This record gives sequence, structure tokens and C-alpha cells, in this order.
Amino acid sequence: MRLRLQDVTKSFGENSVLRGVTFEVGPGEVVALAGENGAGKSTLTRVISGAHQPDAGQVVIDGEPVTFKNPQGAMARGIEVIYQEFRQNLFPHLSVAENIHVLDRERRFGRLLVSRKRMAEEARSTLAALGMDGIDVLAPVGTLGVAEQQMVEIAKATSHELRLLILDEPTAALDERESEQLFEQVRRLRDEGVSIVYISHRLDEIFELADRIVVLRDGLVALDTPIAETGPAQVVAAMVGNAVDDFYPKERNAREEVVLRVRGGSGTVFQGVDLDVRAGEVLGIGGVVGCGRSSLLRALFGLEPLASGTVEVDGAPVRLRNIRDAIAARIAYVTPDRQAEGLCPDLSVEANVSLATLRMHTGPGDLVRRTREREATGEVMSRLRVRTASPESAVTSLSGGNQQKALFAKWVLTGPRVLLMDEPTRGVDVGAKTEIYRIINQLTADGVAVVLVSSDLPELVAMSDRAVVMRQGRLVAEMAGDQLSEQSVLEHALVGAA
Ligand SMILES: Nc1ncnc2c1ncn2[C@@H]1O[C@H](COP(=O)(O)OP(=O)(O)OP(=O)(O)O)[C@@H](O)[C@H]1O
Ligand SMILES: [Mg+2]
Repeated sequence: MRLRLQDVTKSFGENSVLRGVTFEVGPGEVVALAGENGAGKSTLTRVISGAHQPDAGQVVIDGEPVTFKNPQGAMARGIEVIYQEFRQNLFPHLSVAENIHVLDRERRFGRLLVSRKRMAEEARSTLAALGMDGIDVLAPVGTLGVAEQQMVEIAKATSHELRLLILDEPTAALDERESEQLFEQVRRLRDEGVSIVYISHRLDEIFELADRIVVLRDGLVALDTPIAETGPAQVVAAMVGNAVDDFYPKERNAREEVVLRVRGGSGTVFQGVDLDVRAGEVLGIGGVVGCGRSSLLRALFGLEPLASGTVEVDGAPVRLRNIRDAIAARIAYVTPDRQAEGLCPDLSVEANVSLATLRMHTGPGDLVRRTREREATGEVMSRLRVRTASPESAVTSLSGGNQQKALFAKWVLTGPRVLLMDEPTRGVDVGAKTEIYRIINQLTADGVAVVLVSSDLPELVAMSDRAVVMRQGRLVAEMAGDQLSEQSVLEHALVGAA
């Protein structure tokens, strides 16, 4: 066995996260690791890589028990992790090539005089092997999009001898096509004998890619089976402890009156956008990464300039110079990039959730009414089942999916008229996803206009009343009812893009 975990336990204070986890990964095998938000998947990853020490139990590599003091030790044994919050490992000001070779630069390209030319060539060929020749190896990493940054991280892992690769929700930032490219790489590595642990909340991916699946629940292995011998229903049941019947509890609440109206909207990467979103309607926007849909949402929230065009909310013209204008117009926005702009890492969970509504809880003398703040945040957090040791814990101590729920909670609290969401359920487990959909139902029942950007096609199709597709900055199709299908969204999104 390439990797064997034997009775691994790990606690954070009172919170015992792993309570005796045992499973194996063979050479050339893809093992999917699944489980609810906070089940301990990322923690297990950090135990394997030496970023955390287990409290008890063993990590055995090729038959030999190991204790890595740090990730460099694991790396020397050919173990690489692409972390969920992978950007913490990238240096935004360094070039792509420098990031890929940040750890082996001296060894490979000269101690005193680094051969930048050779390093760039090497980086270029690594990226080309990943089908990512479009990335400029000399560009600072910080100027790349999220998907490209992740490819840089993957290139870094594959640029030297690799025996075990752990991918923690790698497709969260990727669109359909980029995900396919990633799967090809994973299969190629597997065929070369690399062992892969693949963490994901997307069951479609797991069933497409994995040879075996391991489900964690309550700190133990709840299911460990070859993929051919199980099905999605059984996996979900193992994850949540009981059967889930309705993933997409879609309610149709669309009314006649238009809440959000955009005419001739043009910005950095989109042009001539006309949109009407009705009260209680969910308008989905399909398209590939870079098609302009994310940029459109940012412009509608005052984060990017709207070069021309008009925006109305409930019939009143709105000027969107900054976020403050947007919030005043009761527009809310769930960012796809919670690390960079969604959450304040230095603040508690509770402070993050109440950040956008502090004013509502502010009384005479500018004093925040803490009790009211507590009640409001507590209520929405329990509705969304934000799993946290305490409301006062640092938001960074939450698991990835729970951070996403906290972000969503923050904007629900503002009582918006227009809710713009970009990948709102990224990294969120199946149970909490359904919870987010229910909240969307409640909001639409109250007449909120919702715009949903999602790369999760089943979600986009199931939760939208109507969808438009963007391609190269323009709206190219609109569909509803029977016309709205994954196939039709994909076709319109990809035409001429191959
Ligand atoms: N450094 C830390 N300090 C305190 N608690 C932590 C720390 N890291 C993780 N935890 C807690 O451990 C539990 C498991 O978190 P982990 O990140 O492993 O979950 P996960 O399965 O990866 O979830 P997700 O699907 O949301 O990414 C959570 O309750 C989390 O709050
Ligand atoms: Mg995680």
C-alpha cells in the first residue's frame, strides 16, 4: 500500500475531529474522500502532509510509519497537497515560473545565478503538459484568475517526483472545461502509478473519477467501498446519516413586476447587457470562466466600474460607484472569492456575519446593541447550520464549507431586494446546499430578485426559473421551462469556444 492510515485521531481542544480513521490507498488508485462540512477531510489531509501532528495513530507510507515535522518532509517523499485554500501557498508578486519552482529553484537552476531562462522553459513545459499553455509564465501570479492560480499550484506539484497527490476540492474554482482538463491530468497521473486522494462535494465528479470512495462522518469512516459497488444515494446516506430525498427543493415564486432592470450595461469584459429580473424570480447565468458573468455581478455591486448603461431597482435609477451605493439600493452580493474579499480573517465568526448589518444594531451614541446583534446572527447561523465551536471563534478556524455558509448568512441578514450570487454553494456539503436552496425559496417568496451564477450545472438548471447564457461578454441565449437544460446551457456556452 502506498498510504495507510491507522486509527488516526486528532482534536482541537474539546472538538475531537478525527476519532480513529483507518483506510488505505494503493498505487495508481484514485480514492475519493467525502463527508459533510467539518467532517475532518482537510484536517486529515494536513495530518498526512505533516502540517498537523496526529494525537494518536499512524500514517504509513509504503509500509513505513512516518512522522513528518512539516510539509517539506512529506514533499521529499513525493507527497503533495493542493489545499482547499490553496492561494495561501502562492506568492502573488512572484511570477508563475518562480512560484512553480519556489522550493526547488536553487537545487535545479543554480544557487547563485538562477537561470531564469531555463526555469521559465521548464515551467512552460509543465504547464503545457497540463493543457495550460495559455498561462504566461512571466506574469505575476496575483494577476491570474482563480482557476489559473490553481493550475499553477498543480503544476508545482507535478513538476517533480510525485507518489501521492491529495486534491482538496480542486474543481471548486474551475468551470466545466477546466474540470475536464484536470480530470485528464488526474487520470494520467494515476496511470503513471501515482496514488490520488480526491476530496469533493460533487458526487458527479466522484463517480466519474474515483476507483474507491471513503466517507467520513463523526470522525470515523462511515463507508469505504469500490465505486462500482455503490451509488449516489448510498454515499449521501453515509455522509448525513440518513436518506435525503429532495436535493433541489425548488419553489416557483416569480411575479410580474421587475425588480432589477439593466439596460445597455457595459463594463470591463461585458457589453450591451439587457436584463430584467422579476420579483421572486431566480435568473441563472450560464457560461464558461471568463465569459463576463462574474464581472457583470461585480459591476452590479459597485465593485467594478459600469462604463455605460443604466440600472434600476424597483423602478428607481441606481448609481453604482461603490459597494456603499449598492448596499443602499438593497443589493447584496455573495462573492465566489471568500478568501480575498468575503470574510475578514481577523474577526470572529459572529463579527463576520453581522458585518454588513452593524448599522441596524447600532443605537444612540453609536453603540452596537450586542444582544440584538447576537440574536440576529445566532438565528441565521443556526438556520444555516454553521458549525463552529463558538460564535466567538476566529472565522478562519471554520471548515471551508462553513466559511461559505457564514458568508451567505451575512448577506441574508441585510434583507436585500436583489441578491447576486456567484458560486454560492461552492464547497458546501449536500445537506447545507439544500438549506441554502430553502433560504433562496424564502427570499423569493418575499419577492427578492435573485441572480445566480453557478458552474454547477444541475444546480443552475434546477434552481433557476429562467437562465441566460453569456459568451465573450454578451448575452447569447435565454431559456426557461423545458428549454432550460444542462445540455442547452453547455451548448450555448461553448459554441465557438473550443
Ligand atoms: N486549526 C484549527 N483550529 C481549530 N479548529 C479547527 C482547525 N482546523 C479545523 N478545525 C475544526 O475541525 C473540524 C473539521 O474541519 P475540516 O476543515 O477538516 O473539515 P472538512 O471536512 O474539510 O470540511 P469542508 O468540507 O467544509 O472543507 C471543524 O469543526 C473545524 O472547525
Ligand atoms: Mg475542507
